[in-house]
Amino acid sequence: MSIWLCITTLAVLSLLSRLVYLHWFHPLAKVPGPWALSISYLPQLFYDGLYSGLMYEKISCWHSIYGPIIRIGPNEVHVDEAKFYNQFHRQTGKLDKDPRIYLAPTATFSITDKYEHDHRRRALEHFYTPEATSQYETLMLDTLDYLCHRLQQDKHANLSNAYRAWSFDTMCRIYLGYNPQLCRRADFGRQTHLAYRDFARMYTLFTFLPAFTVRLIDRALRWKYLQPRRLATVLNAIMEPAVCIFDSIENGSAKFENSILHKILKSDLNAAQKTPEAMQNEIVGNILAGTEAIANTLLTITFYLTQNLDDCKKLRLELQTHASPENSPFLVCNFVLVCMPSCTSLCRLQKGAEFREPRICPERDVCFQTWCIPQGTTISTTPMSLHQDESVFENASEFRPVRWLDRDVNQLKRHLVPFSIGRRQCLGKK
Ligand code: HEM
Repeated sequence: MSIWLCITTLAVLSLLSRLVYLHWFHPLAKVPGPWALSISYLPQLFYDGLYSGLMYEKISCWHSIYGPIIRIGPNEVHVDEAKFYNQFHRQTGKLDKDPRIYLAPTATFSITDKYEHDHRRRALEHFYTPEATSQYETLMLDTLDYLCHRLQQDKHANLSNAYRAWSFDTMCRIYLGYNPQLCRRADFGRQTHLAYRDFARMYTLFTFLPAFTVRLIDRALRWKYLQPRRLATVLNAIMEPAVCIFDSIENGSAKFENSILHKILKSDLNAAQKTPEAMQNEIVGNILAGTEAIANTLLTITFYLTQNLDDCKKLRLELQTHASPENSPFLVCNFVLVCMPSCTSLCRLQKGAEFREPRICPERDVCFQTWCIPQGTTISTTPMSLHQDESVFENASEFRPVRWLDRDVNQLKRHLVPFSIGRRQCLGKK
């Protein structure tokens, strides 16, 4: 027998034995779910990467067939139960993020290790409190006024691009003290928004490559000649003003002292964490994630309010009633957000809630009903699964603010987690 035949036979046998182990003998072998997902992450690549949003739909469909716990990867389960979600995520500081999904662990969002994350979060969280961010009110309203003016002039504007332009301008002004003025461009900076989509697709693909390949690509992409053109434009638009802030700190200038980045660079993070290289993912990640999350929420709001003009009128009236020189627009919005059922409904329906949250409990097994999920397993949950729970929200996909008036609101609120909960909940929530 030739040496190549031996090698091929051995490779096929070891692959087969691995598949047999994963499907029949792995500690998760008894967890129900489609067999293809028990032996490979490739179906996730297909549903997550090629058809954005399809993974959530598939997961809901599998839950309706197999029950509240399903296996969605060789070492990943997905649990769909509000009580479990609340208990699991509230174990403050006890969960890691899954390094297979959260690459580039130098940004707050993607740091996987719970201790490292806790240290970073403590250093940053006071920059995001309502008191700290209230100083940006005038700046945000200023850009918003301009956007409203443009939308009144142009009735056929692409709202997805318009909202993205506003949130990108605002995030850059708050974070970097610089306004890229996408709101003033004829196409609202369409290329920038497309670049984000390229980036999101590329990122999903990266999660399926071995860690060392991802590190190599990450290094290579820092060299601007290797960056895809659209992506390079966005990275430059963000990093050039960021570098000015690094320089200003070195020169002892107070020019950008109101920007969040300036404050982070003055915080008690150690020097190695504050170099431009170490901060790049934090800066780019925060600005792009903030931009997308805000724009998508605004789109959801517009969609449902234009379909439900009565609710839209009520909301407008409510805002007008509370508006006064003493109440800043942000105070009014905060009040209305908390108290108005239509706002709560809109938070429930926004599409960002479809992203699943893969976590690992490294120190102990996790119990769910009669199941014991071994430590080290990736346990995923998805806010949208709670938001769409038909036993709690009848006709869950409908926008019906009145449902927040006629039942025990506290019970409903346990099923409303658009910003996630626990130690990894959204820093921008308030
Ligand atoms: C309506 C808008 C927003 C929504 C719905 C939203 C939602 C979320 C969710 C669900 C998470 C958890 C994700 C995960 O664990 O995988 C998260 C994390 C995060 N969000 Fe937001 N977000 C919004 C706006 C923002 C803004 C404006 C900022 C920045 C100013 C921001 C900064 C962050 C950061 C830094 C994290 C990571 C927190 C950590 O791991 O400690 N978000 N967000």
